[in-house]
Amino acid sequence: MPTLNASEIVRGHILQVTSAALGHGAEELKDGALLLDTKGHILKKGNFADISKEYSSLPVRDYSGSLILPSFFDTHIHFPQLDMIGSCAEELLLWLQRYTFPREAAFRGRTQFVKDAAKNFVDELASNGTSFAVVYSSSCGEATDVLFEEFERRGLRVILGKTSMDRHCPDEISVDVEQDKAWTEMLIKKWHKKTDRLHYALTPRFAPSCTNELMAMLAKLHDDDPSLYMQTHYAENRNEIEWVAELYPEAKSYLDVYDSRDLLNSKTILAHSIHTNAEDEQLLLERDVVISHCPTSNLFLGSGLFKGKSYLEQGLKVTLGTDVGAGTSFSQWQSMNEAYKVAQLKQERLSPSDIFALATVAAGKHLGFPNLGCLEEGYIADFQVIDPESRPILARHLAMATTAEERLTALIHFADDRCLKELNIQGQPVYKRA
Ligand code: GUN
Ligand code: ZN
Repeated sequence: MPTLNASEIVRGHILQVTSAALGHGAEELKDGALLLDTKGHILKKGNFADISKEYSSLPVRDYSGSLILPSFFDTHIHFPQLDMIGSCAEELLLWLQRYTFPREAAFRGRTQFVKDAAKNFVDELASNGTSFAVVYSSSCGEATDVLFEEFERRGLRVILGKTSMDRHCPDEISVDVEQDKAWTEMLIKKWHKKTDRLHYALTPRFAPSCTNELMAMLAKLHDDDPSLYMQTHYAENRNEIEWVAELYPEAKSYLDVYDSRDLLNSKTILAHSIHTNAEDEQLLLERDVVISHCPTSNLFLGSGLFKGKSYLEQGLKVTLGTDVGAGTSFSQWQSMNEAYKVAQLKQERLSPSDIFALATVAAGKHLGFPNLGCLEEGYIADFQVIDPESRPILARHLAMATTAEERLTALIHFADDRCLKELNIQGQPVYKRA
């Protein structure tokens, strides 16, 4: 019996990973179809022949010859680092002082520069197939407001926060507790859950950037509203970890700096989380936090090799981030490519589909959006359309691939923004390649 509110059929070669479980593998339907309702929800997935027969009166959006995949989550990225990708430094702390902090000072106010940068930033996400980003803005409330406006205008999904920092940085980007509180409260009131695509994350940059007073203020806001996300950096680099131990002599560990302030729960996103011991990992598990693995950044800054497989086997909630501007690409294909190699260097085996899941179905599940990240009945139709002919080398590898896993492998090696034809959110195009 045809479903009453069915509105259209989307046709193409569907390729995806449908479970966050390690080893689940990739799946495909070569001449597949998604039956959508008027709100962009997937009512049914199946072979085009079957669905088009059953719903013969419905219009068909025909992407035959193209691949349809779930669009990406990028669970860690910095807006004010848009222009400093590839700034070379020996390690994180020097990189922050030498390039990052001075650069972030430009992202203040509602200036034309900030408006243009916000547009370029959101464009860059969309043109790389990312429909959901977890973003650090600058420390300025007004610039963050501009960025929220841009996400709303473009219709992308975002968890976004103004970066909170009041020490160990230049005066131009240091924001005192009172101003930080006023801006943070204004942004939460104006944007948090304004629509189901817009969310706020409290964003203490990392423990060394925040005084006890600033941490306490954020912890209070966190405590007052359990629907807020919290994002920060954790255990990225050895020098950083030593510094945290000096700055917080009373803390049992780096993680304890956050945990003792009750900042860790299932809405916490910790970037990096590389240098951990068994006790830390137990606490990460108990607090149910989300981890953002940022391989292009970790390799660029020489921060360390993430323990992907071991974390996943322990049941830790691992997702994938670009971490632009320490990360070197907006493309999650590139993050996957390097995540694979990081696992190899650790003598671990993660398959392309294990890694693809981190930027799609696992991210949806772990961030609390269990109906995003895959293209099955009951999910929301956030999807990207990829043209296999966009690059001859990609076309060759896709043509030679015999399994869904091999097709994902080809994409991880050869896909980039040139290959994205269209990005859809809730069934509606938000980006089309010119
Ligand atoms: N730790 C504190 N701030 C940052 C940042 O901007 N990037 C990275 N990669 N690590 C950080
Ligand atoms: Zn970062």
